[in-house]
Amino acid sequence: MDHFTYRNRILHCEDVPVAELAAKYGTPLFIYSQATLLENLKEIQTAFAPAAPTICYSIKTNGNTHIARLMVNNGAGCDVTSGGELYRALTAGCPPERICFAGVGKTDEEMRYGLGTGVLMFNVESHAELHALGEVAKSMGKVAPVALRVNPDLPPKTHAKTDTSVKGVKFGLDIDTILEVAQGVVGHPHLRVQGLHMHLGSPILSADPYRQGLEKGLKLIEALRKQGHPIEYLNMGGGFGINYRKQEALPASAFAEVILPAVKQSGCKLVLEPGRFIVGNAGLLVGRVIFTKESGGKHYIIQDAAMNDLIRPTLYDSFHRIWPVAPEVGLATPPIDYEIEMANTFKQNVVGPVCESGDFLAKDRYLPRAKRGDLLAVFSAGAYGMAMSSNYNSRVRAAEVLVTGDKHRLIRRRETFADLIAAEEHCTA
Ligand code: LLP
Repeated sequence: MDHFTYRNRILHCEDVPVAELAAKYGTPLFIYSQATLLENLKEIQTAFAPAAPTICYSIKTNGNTHIARLMVNNGAGCDVTSGGELYRALTAGCPPERICFAGVGKTDEEMRYGLGTGVLMFNVESHAELHALGEVAKSMGKVAPVALRVNPDLPPKTHAKTDTSVKGVKFGLDIDTILEVAQGVVGHPHLRVQGLHMHLGSPILSADPYRQGLEKGLKLIEALRKQGHPIEYLNMGGGFGINYRKQEALPASAFAEVILPAVKQSGCKLVLEPGRFIVGNAGLLVGRVIFTKESGGKHYIIQDAAMNDLIRPTLYDSFHRIWPVAPEVGLATPPIDYEIEMANTFKQNVVGPVCESGDFLAKDRYLPRAKRGDLLAVFSAGAYGMAMSSNYNSRVRAAEVLVTGDKHRLIRRRETFADLIAAEEHCTA
């Protein structure tokens, strides 16, 4: 469920016409619905309520401090993966005791920042990291709270570039050797191994991987406790998928059904790190058509949102629904099935102005004819859109707007040309 709806052939975000926002704030523009953000968070909170979980919103998904603050004010903590993300979480007002510090390559400086802040836990991913963290904690006279991140060695479950629990990827401690690593730090005066963490991949459209991961996780918790580690937390990461195409995703309750009994059995407190589920369908990207053209029998819509704004189609061949903001002919709302040719549509490629053939948002997509100045909405762009954006081709990063009811406000201004070179100024030869 989201709050992007067509009313009389005009796309609205909550009660605000999207065209009005594009006119006021310019394009390309990310538009977020506050009601959708809060309902998605609530869905997870409700589904997992019996375990009274710590829900750490995954900052990497969309780190805008206004969105993070909204999450934090509504009961969430934060999952951070770098010093920069920790800074964002703290700026958003997140209490440190609700922050999980993840990441496969934390520097000593980042560890010091986390320890100084007093984060809930470090998710540790290697033998080397565990010992480095012990050293940093020692130098600060502290005890570092640790969850060991296990790679549970599961079958492939999502795009290879975002599958984090198949054997041999860089993430987590190998399930075959994790206990040896843990044995090595029993009684360590500056490390407290108090949790087990796993993040299986993203996006995941079935509860099976969680079932499989938990089966292995429960045995590990038992073994870690036998070694003498006081395991109190089970962190199941993020990964819950969303509807990019149709109704392919599961409700949070389907994951809860699998996760809750295992948590109960483990006697642990539950931590989750959802990102996409909360913010993915709460945001869209609006672009304005600059030109249309034909080339080699292909039809192109060249609009002002590009791979530097939303890299997912280029990087993962991801599918994002696209439809005119105010369709004049044909369907009044995006089709249920894009594979089928519809009246008043023909196959087109939606591309941006970036100088790469890989710069596209959709390929061979049935869409109505577009003309200069039309607005196109790219749906489900709230997660890993702005967060993965860049200044490639010296394009300024888009603005972001948050809508609630009939109100809207800028939550990140469009960058300026001066922003593009700001970090290069005052650097002398
Ligand atoms: N926790 C950890 C340790 C993670 O690595 C991730 C995502 C999450 C939580 C949040 O996962 P989510 O709930 O959002 O699925 N850029 C890719 C996705 C990369 C995911 C990276 N890790 C995409 O656009 O599909």
